[in-house]
Amino acid sequence: MTTDTEAGSTRDLATVLAAASSRIDQWSQLNALARAWATAGSGNARATKLRGDSASQFAALSRIEHCWAYPGRRLLAGITEALDGGDAATFARLVQKVSRALLSGDFRRDEATWDANSQGDKRVLDLAPPDVDTGPTGKPYFEVLIVTPTEPSAWENSAAEIRRLRRVEDAFHYETVHVGSLEDAMLAVMVNDGLQAVVLMDGFQLASRHDMPDLKAFLARHVTFDTSNVEPGLMATALAKGIKNYRPELDIYLMSDRTAESIAGSVEAAPVRRMFHHVEEPMEVHLSILDGIRDRYETPYFDNLKKYAQRPIGTFHALPIARGKSVFRSNWIRDMGQFYGANIFFAESSATTGGLDSLLEPTGNIKKAQDAVARAFGAQRAYLGTNGTSTSNKIVVQAVCKPGDIVIVDRNCHKSHHYGFVLSGAQPYYVEAYPLTQYSMYGAVPLKTIKKALFDCAAEGTLDRVKVIDLTNCTFDGHMYNPRRVMEECLAIKPDLVFLWDEAWFGFARFNPFHRRRSALGAAAVLNERYKSAAYRAEYEAWKKKHPKIDPKDAKSLDMPLLPDPDRVRIRVYQTNSTHKSMSAFRQGSMMLIWDEDFHHVEGTFQEAFLAHTSTSPNLQLIASLDLARRQMELEGYAMTMQMTELAIRLRRAINTHPLISKYFKVATPEEMVPAEFRSSGIKDYGPPHSTWSAVLDAWDQDEFALDPTRLTVICGSAGFDGTQLKGILAERFDIQLNKTSRNSVLIQTNINNTHSDAALLIKTLADLSREIEQKLAQGGKDGKDAFDARVKSLMTDVPDLPNFSRFHDAFRENAKAVSNEGHMRPAFFMAYDEANCEYVKLASKDIDDRLKNGPELVSANFVIPYPPGFPIMVPGQVITAETITYMRKLDVKEIHGYQAAKGIKMLKPAALKARPAAGKDR
Ligand SMILES: Cc1ncc(COP(=O)(O)O)c(C=O)c1O
Repeated sequence: MTTDTEAGSTRDLATVLAAASSRIDQWSQLNALARAWATAGSGNARATKLRGDSASQFAALSRIEHCWAYPGRRLLAGITEALDGGDAATFARLVQKVSRALLSGDFRRDEATWDANSQGDKRVLDLAPPDVDTGPTGKPYFEVLIVTPTEPSAWENSAAEIRRLRRVEDAFHYETVHVGSLEDAMLAVMVNDGLQAVVLMDGFQLASRHDMPDLKAFLARHVTFDTSNVEPGLMATALAKGIKNYRPELDIYLMSDRTAESIAGSVEAAPVRRMFHHVEEPMEVHLSILDGIRDRYETPYFDNLKKYAQRPIGTFHALPIARGKSVFRSNWIRDMGQFYGANIFFAESSATTGGLDSLLEPTGNIKKAQDAVARAFGAQRAYLGTNGTSTSNKIVVQAVCKPGDIVIVDRNCHKSHHYGFVLSGAQPYYVEAYPLTQYSMYGAVPLKTIKKALFDCAAEGTLDRVKVIDLTNCTFDGHMYNPRRVMEECLAIKPDLVFLWDEAWFGFARFNPFHRRRSALGAAAVLNERYKSAAYRAEYEAWKKKHPKIDPKDAKSLDMPLLPDPDRVRIRVYQTNSTHKSMSAFRQGSMMLIWDEDFHHVEGTFQEAFLAHTSTSPNLQLIASLDLARRQMELEGYAMTMQMTELAIRLRRAINTHPLISKYFKVATPEEMVPAEFRSSGIKDYGPPHSTWSAVLDAWDQDEFALDPTRLTVICGSAGFDGTQLKGILAERFDIQLNKTSRNSVLIQTNINNTHSDAALLIKTLADLSREIEQKLAQGGKDGKDAFDARVKSLMTDVPDLPNFSRFHDAFRENAKAVSNEGHMRPAFFMAYDEANCEYVKLASKDIDDRLKNGPELVSANFVIPYPPGFPIMVPGQVITAETITYMRKLDVKEIHGYQAAKGIKMLKPAALKARPAAGKDR
């Protein structure tokens, strides 16, 4: 994850990947050098130096230019010729042409940009919103990789022949990139994010013509095959598998004259979309390529909504806003129409006919859209949610849990889960994430803690009631679980466990191979393949021989890696994601993605839960935006998520190495956010000099927790700001919005919409603020300095301890002596509906201290959730301890949901608790 050429050898892969992501910047730099050279005259020292600089910049750039169709061999040859001949004017003209075409994206639609002799240059308009662009948008453009055994000298002709297959009716157009080896193919797949399809022509070479030692090690992770037995076809299918591992969205075609039929039906050929007998049917190949793109481009619901909007429909249903007549004819709200534009009204309807389909029981376009979502996100089933992940979580909890079931759950999870337990009657067994007290936040729940909870239930004889493990991946602050490991070890203890992975922030993770390895569905796919393999069976048998019985009471079982029985294990994964948080969906757009081998047992209850929580008037634009978000991610998710990651790493480094900013602000590193015991790789930070891409991959494969680099905890207590204060300043003075804060930090997120300009704005803002602090300190004398230091100390050092979940009151426990801590939250929640059961005690009162000391126990009547940090420090039925009260008294946040300072903490009266029937009778 490096950004420039500073990381060691220019031949190492980290540098190559970085070069790809900063390719456009590098062409711009070359453009600046070329212009300077062209205006420097000739025969002088400056011109000579500029020529030399241009030559080295061009040489650095050219190393991987063969991975893209544009600018292509001809333009590159023209540039080389001009450089070699010392023709600065031609060199500058051609470099400018390429640089501008790459920056504007014009090479995708303007033939002239490909022609060395054409003078025309279009305006840079591609980056403006569509209604600003006056020109025709043209057909979407993409690139196709051809991996071929033919000589490089034949590639130009081949590209021209393929170009001749174009027809006016084609919905898309493409150019080809030719490579001659497996290694070059993988390199192109990695760096060229404009690739959408790969054609493998059997018989290509294994080794790259280019000298990149790191590439081999990197490839070894993705493409595995026996090099001693490279049968025709086998290398192609191994490459196909490697490509699918790395970028599952790409379509792969295989052309073989020897083995097409024999391998067509094999497992190895599964990643291949279609096979052809060698170059027999070039037009068929062309059409197949376009067809593959169409499959991803099609947005069944949105496409139909557009058609619907154009029809002259008279509405007699209850949605006056549909067709906009009540708006456009209004005397008073015409500005609504002007602001939103006509389409939003034309595309409104409360009908489910006319092909609009019904979200509640989809059979048409919504069904198709959901199937496409499942394909794109690597799920078996997908449901679209229109009330955020807040509702998606409740749907899943209610679908898989019934009263009395136990859910092992991170206490720090989003409140929708806790409300889900109230609704379903499931009993939460709260487990604690490791605390990051210094930042007033939690990390994630250690695997050992989860295993211990399962073992506790086994010891109590309640393991059969444990239905779900419910975790947040990644957390708000970016802690990523290792879902493969968590699921593997938990399934060894109970093979039919359901996992609810709340990936509200992490929906994008599917679309690059780095984040995907830490995602729930990425893990489901890997485990599915693993448990079906003969190799796993052998591994399990050997392990079982060594460990014939797991003793839940033996502490060693907590440390020992456990393996599930391949004959009993079921993969049951539910992922929820706030599509609107990380992709181009409207607010509240959410998805429920399912990989459940036993879904046939859940489908009915899932449908019930879905109906219970879904509006009968779901918003059509929202559904359409989910359809579109899926299309975008399937076609450009790789490019966008890689770029946002790269941007985050640049930001991290820019802040932490800036001489002024770093005096006051700091982005917390993986080392600071993930304690060493969960970070066996020892990785400290992202980017040079700390780590290369392959070190990051190692860490993300091995470590129990990793930090998502795109979520930046910026420590601001050291600048004398608490999180809320800095958030306000950034919004009011600098037009920078963010949402999460802690006592001494703010969370900055990079997203698929962020640009280098956004990064620059943030850096400039932090630099401005740092300068202001310096000035104030310089002018404030000793008193000012003392006051600043005291404020920093209070924010950074005098941080309150985070209170753990105490326990449910005995009145809500089936077995008050059990070591497991699950409890009946629902009856506690509803007991508080009767005011006669409740009392209020003021936080600062002596009453509280007396009762903490002498009893009777204080028992919370409801959820109390301070924001920040946003986790419930009290849940209904929970015994309130001195730690919780101390924490509340120290809290200096304004928003505490469920608590009114004027009234006090709402408690359940001791008498009401006494009168309760024995717990368990009211499941
Ligand atoms: C972990 C987690 N889950 C669920 C949600 C709720 O998602 P939504 O805002 O889409 O309702 C949030 C919201 O911030 C969250 O942080």
